Amino acid sequence: MNPVALITGASRGIGRGIALELAKIGYDLVINYAGNAEAAKQTQADCVAAGKSKIRADVCQADVSIPTDRQRLVDFTREKFGRLDLLVNNAGVTSRGRKDILDATEENFDWLVGINLKGPFFLSQLAAKWMIEQKKPEAGGYRPKIVMVTSISSYTVSPNRADYCMAKAALSMMVKLFAARLAEHGINVYEVCPGVIESDMTGPVKAKYDKLIAEGLTPIKRWGQPEDVGRAVVAIAQDLLPFSTGEVINVDGGFHIRTV
Ligand SMILES: NC(=O)c1ccc[n+]([C@@H]2O[C@H](COP(=O)([O-])OP(=O)(O)OC[C@H]3O[C@@H](n4cnc5c(N)ncnc54)[C@H](OP(=O)(O)O)[C@@H]3O)[C@@H](O)[C@H]2O)c1
Repeated sequence: MNPVALITGASRGIGRGIALELAKIGYDLVINYAGNAEAAKQTQADCVAAGKSKIRADVCQADVSIPTDRQRLVDFTREKFGRLDLLVNNAGVTSRGRKDILDATEENFDWLVGINLKGPFFLSQLAAKWMIEQKKPEAGGYRPKIVMVTSISSYTVSPNRADYCMAKAALSMMVKLFAARLAEHGINVYEVCPGVIESDMTGPVKAKYDKLIAEGLTPIKRWGQPEDVGRAVVAIAQDLLPFSTGEVINVDGGFHIRTV
């Protein structure tokens, strides 16, 4: 029986990259998306084609900010696969309108926090309870894990994306909270912290980052790719970090290194 991963926001971008890399190491997949069914189906087909061994991938629409959708997503995983080995909280949106902090609106704040912070918190809670339930004595090799996809914005200020930065900072704290609580159940929790990654999210600011990267924004002078993030998640999924929990894996070309 293959291990099973549920990846939120896996229709496009980083989530798709994670799904493809997990398919290559033989994970069965639940590919979640919000509205883009075509992209989700394409990712599903590409994952099945990329899988070295025979893998199953199913698509499930659910808005992670909506409680009944989160429950439906977990129920879907349970019904289709009967187990969950890895939850990747990847779905996220950027700040609407990229408004200056002095013009930021409450409506946009609530929308973003619902998807980027409240969604992963309560989805992880649901998944963790089910993982604990699955941790029966006879389930010997079962070592479930939870991953949060944060951002360099969790510690880097962009005053025109305050809601995004604050939600990512809180998501980073969430990793430590769940890691501390779930260690006694043998569930490790990790933060994967991407830098500037080429995706639809960064499409509108491509020219800006092309210039910044060329000027030395990151020691490794290139855009990150969804595959780079996927490979970090593979290291976690393969249990290569068994004595590490609450740990941050930076996938940022060295952006986090301070230099003088
Ligand atoms: N790109 C970067 O440079 C970068 C850097 C650091 C961190 N990140 C983080 O990485 C994650 C993925 O970013 P990305 O660049 O891959 O973004 P993206 O290309 O815009 O893709 C976003 C994905 O999230 C899904 N999604 C959006 N709202 C959702 C909701 N309410 N419920 C469920 N799924 C939802 C989308 O589904 P649909 O296709 O159905 O719309 C899509 O699959 C985000 O958490 C982002 O903050 C990105």
